[in-house]
Amino acid sequence: MTLESDIKIESVLQEDRIFPPSTEVTEKARIKGFHEYKKMVDYANSNPDDFWGNSAKEELHWFEPFNKVLDWSDPPFAKWFVGGKTNISYNCLDRHLQNGNGDKQAIIWEGETGEIRRFTYKELHSEVCKTANALKELGIKKGDLVALYMPMVPEAAISMLACSRIGAPHSVVFGGFSAEALRDRLVDGEAKAVITADGGFRKDKIISLKPAVDDALSNNSCPTVQKVLVVRRTNENIEMQPGRDIWWHDLIPSQSTECPALPIDSEDRLFVLYTSGSTGKPKGVVHTTAGYNLWAHLTFKWIFDIRSEDIYWCTADVGWITGHSYIVYGPLSNGSTTLMYEGVPRPSNPGAFWDVIQKHSVSIFYTAPTAIRAFMKTGRELPDKYDLSSLRLIGTVGEPINPEAWMWYRDVIGGKNCPVVDTWWQTETGGVMISPLPGVTSTKPGSATFPLPGIQADVVDSEGISVRDNEGGYLVIRKPWPGMMRTVHGDSNRFRESYWEFIKPKDGSLIYFAGDGARRDSQGYFWVMGRVDDVINVSGHRLGTMEIESALVSHQSVSEAAVVGRPDDLKGEAIVAFVTLENGVESSDLLLTTLVNHVKAEIGVIAKPDKIIFTDALPKTRSGKIMRRLLRSLASGKEVSGDTSTLEDVSVLDKLRN
Ligand code: WTA
Repeated sequence: MTLESDIKIESVLQEDRIFPPSTEVTEKARIKGFHEYKKMVDYANSNPDDFWGNSAKEELHWFEPFNKVLDWSDPPFAKWFVGGKTNISYNCLDRHLQNGNGDKQAIIWEGETGEIRRFTYKELHSEVCKTANALKELGIKKGDLVALYMPMVPEAAISMLACSRIGAPHSVVFGGFSAEALRDRLVDGEAKAVITADGGFRKDKIISLKPAVDDALSNNSCPTVQKVLVVRRTNENIEMQPGRDIWWHDLIPSQSTECPALPIDSEDRLFVLYTSGSTGKPKGVVHTTAGYNLWAHLTFKWIFDIRSEDIYWCTADVGWITGHSYIVYGPLSNGSTTLMYEGVPRPSNPGAFWDVIQKHSVSIFYTAPTAIRAFMKTGRELPDKYDLSSLRLIGTVGEPINPEAWMWYRDVIGGKNCPVVDTWWQTETGGVMISPLPGVTSTKPGSATFPLPGIQADVVDSEGISVRDNEGGYLVIRKPWPGMMRTVHGDSNRFRESYWEFIKPKDGSLIYFAGDGARRDSQGYFWVMGRVDDVINVSGHRLGTMEIESALVSHQSVSEAAVVGRPDDLKGEAIVAFVTLENGVESSDLLLTTLVNHVKAEIGVIAKPDKIIFTDALPKTRSGKIMRRLLRSLASGKEVSGDTSTLEDVSVLDKLRN
């Protein structure tokens, strides 16, 4: 992790507003009141083996029981529920059929173009079995990695459940990533097959997917990929390579609707999901079967206080961890109804979200602060036109939410009577770690409040010593938890170094830290303040500044690049790139566009710089390190403060100011 030593976590103003849960919510809630929560917390802390072991026995189906709850003999490499065998696809499907819930809606899907598809648990089970059988027919075996590069269609969830049913780990690559980024992930994961679609609809346009897969596989660059399964969604003309490419509709319908779920070892890989870090290429975060299943299941149940009649909707994409844990696995493991929506608010339908809530009587809504800020900007007239009275709980995820956006969300969308859950977590944590619980927590706008039972979160200094109330520090987790990532795919050293060796306690103990700064107030509320490493969060999408820099530098005209985030009212952060050009290359508007397009091609549209600034030189220390702190100040129009004495050449700064 490259964390500049001069980064200081600034404290923010105290927030005094506080919203206790209503008596009605508390009475109906699963966890009734703070004393009950506190009891769970104390039990989990004093008897972690019993707490986690009993939860795993009660909440999951086991083909074979585990004989040890946690093996932490080789930290940071954890093994949970050792010796047990389970299957997350079974937990998400079969057991609900056996409990008489086969006719309950599992997935309600609405496409951007308006069509609606519904799957009961029975129907979803059949579709998943057919797909699992098809994967077997394509030669996929237990342990083979299957990549998904898909739009938000039911087949994405079906494919994930089909993979897990036969023990083939999946690697979902967000459909907004470029062919280049897809190729990196296919190669790194040694994918055996890719499941994709001709394309998808986004903001009234067609986004091609299959051509990007062709591109990624061209020149035999991913020799492990043998088969490409293609869902027809947009009806575009695409090329199908004989022997390699198969249409979904040619292969799946004729398969048997029975495919027994394979008993899977607790610690067998369930999926790999790539995410950005401070250094180098994105890393493949590895999650395993039982621990992840338990954590996605429990957190979903607690945080959304789920009831059988709920219609639950999370607006994320399945390409991100939020989609994995809270569109697919968490809700289905609990036997809930999960809504999948392909669209986003767009000029032809700016009220799309409110329309979906009204139409499907959504009772729980989970979205990102960036969306809330965008709606806030256009005013309450739009949501006020819709009937949102079906909502009983609303949540946010992905970035810090500013108190005003929180208040707007509570008042305008939640009608002042829905608990708001601001959930803090990461790809690495598998599920939510810090969040209010409805019926339990008095919320404060902008605070994710308290850690969930079993999670020992703290705010510490670089030696792991807890800082005082209201003093900023590093947000860490002190004890292992079932949903924790197990390693970085193919690079266990990187796992140890990036997450467990940054904080260095004197006693040599290991503490998990993944890049966020936080503060805890005098009442113990956590206030997450955002990344303190070289990761930026653009509209809730996580990007490494190094990744964007490498993309820029890979262009022949660019000599050096430094990328920083600048605060942005809507997106949270915007990307600003400082670029020096090769000798003899002149800056121009054309070059600017070329470089923006180059980043799009290398990573994807989400990494597109908002601003590129050409400069003769970058501010560097005498040892040659780029001083990003100065660039961050410049990019956000702030006066450069703090120590500049280590600058090699102060005149660089003056030039940049001008
Ligand atoms: C940020 C998304 C403040 C944080 C689930 C974290 C948040 C990164 C919150 C992980 C929140 C997520 N408040 N910040 N409620 N939720 N973050 O891996 O910086 O895509 O480290 O997982 O998002 O992003 P990731």
